[in-house]
Amino acid sequence: MTTATLARDAIWPGLVNPEGSRWHYLDTAATAQKPQVVIDAMIRALGSDYATVHRGVYARSADMTLAFEAARRKVAGLIGGDEGEIVFTRGATEAINLVAQTWGQANLKAGDRILISTLEHHANIVPWQMLRERTGVAIDVCPLTDDGRIDLDAAERMLTPAHRLVALAHVSNVLGSVLDAPCAVALARSVGAKILLDGCQSVARLRVDVKALDADFYVFSAHKLYGPTGIGALWAKAEILDAMPPWQGGGAMIDRVTFERTTYAPAPQRFEAGTPAIVEAIGFGAAVDFVTGQGLDAIHAHECALVQAAREALRGINAVRLFGPEDSAGIVSFALEGVHPHDLGTILDEEGVAIRAGHHCAQPLMAHLGVPATARASFGIYSDESDIAALVRGIERTRRIFG
Ligand SMILES: Cc1ncc(COP(=O)(O)O)c(C=O)c1O
Repeated sequence: MTTATLARDAIWPGLVNPEGSRWHYLDTAATAQKPQVVIDAMIRALGSDYATVHRGVYARSADMTLAFEAARRKVAGLIGGDEGEIVFTRGATEAINLVAQTWGQANLKAGDRILISTLEHHANIVPWQMLRERTGVAIDVCPLTDDGRIDLDAAERMLTPAHRLVALAHVSNVLGSVLDAPCAVALARSVGAKILLDGCQSVARLRVDVKALDADFYVFSAHKLYGPTGIGALWAKAEILDAMPPWQGGGAMIDRVTFERTTYAPAPQRFEAGTPAIVEAIGFGAAVDFVTGQGLDAIHAHECALVQAAREALRGINAVRLFGPEDSAGIVSFALEGVHPHDLGTILDEEGVAIRAGHHCAQPLMAHLGVPATARASFGIYSDESDIAALVRGIERTRRIFG
């Protein structure tokens, strides 16, 4: 079994067990481990560089503001956007809720339709259902192909001029299937709909260019990109952001406040009420530097090779059922006949292997697959063949235990 190797010169404190052995961490799709450079950047920001942003008249605050805005520039650069088009949010979930509650509330009404798909994460389902309750907008669900991709031929048949938004995962967090994003954008455009791409699983695995794609909204979380929790980004086209009403009110998002009337700051500040996640933003920027330094094409090739190797190894175990397409990006979901994924996950943990077992915040997809849960192995920059070998050993042991 060979896989392409990626320069793994970074230090990953999270991958070392207390006694010094390697932890076989196969849950990167849930959250990625952090390289030391990100941790160091955050320690500096929290310590010797710490100050507030945007308000201070002293030099430390001015420096921190520059670093904070530089992080926004880096995040924008990662996906080919402009810095003025990046709104810092708590994560992808908050970014989608922001779009639903501002753009959606202002632009959608009863009679309008939204198209999502069977494989969406709950974060790209529930905000639209909540919007449906408030506005009467209808939601349609695009089916999947037999191998677990969003069926864009079906989408083409389903889309009508009543569709105002298409909201799809760029990469599935369960199946790893990669959306044909240019085709999805073209389909949305053909009926005059806007398109939101959930980039949570794609930004750390694929090169993304929102301008070349001509997307309208793109959302992602820093913690899946080797950065910290508590921060993520909404990218939206400038003209869309400019026209969106504010969301949360408070400091930093205003132009002028009187008791009679408040005017608002331009985007993106209009959507960032309150003191922002300063340290997390610095960590987000450091994570972007790290990932772009490794090179997304190299990361993608590395993870594709690992997926191929993992699928091949798992196929060699009789009782394993594999889900998703052969060319999934960095993620492999599977079931072991006669063993609940939670039991498998527990035994693997005893073997020093961490997988995710459950519905992966995609209960409608589980219903579609006809299973309550799957086991999921997901890879990152730091993954290698030893992780796959440990996974296979653990599965073999589980089979022996379960007879
Ligand atoms: C495809 C996808 N969308 C959205 C989310 C939600 O991300 P977060 O919990 O960081 O807001 C996740 C996280 O698992 C995801 O994988």
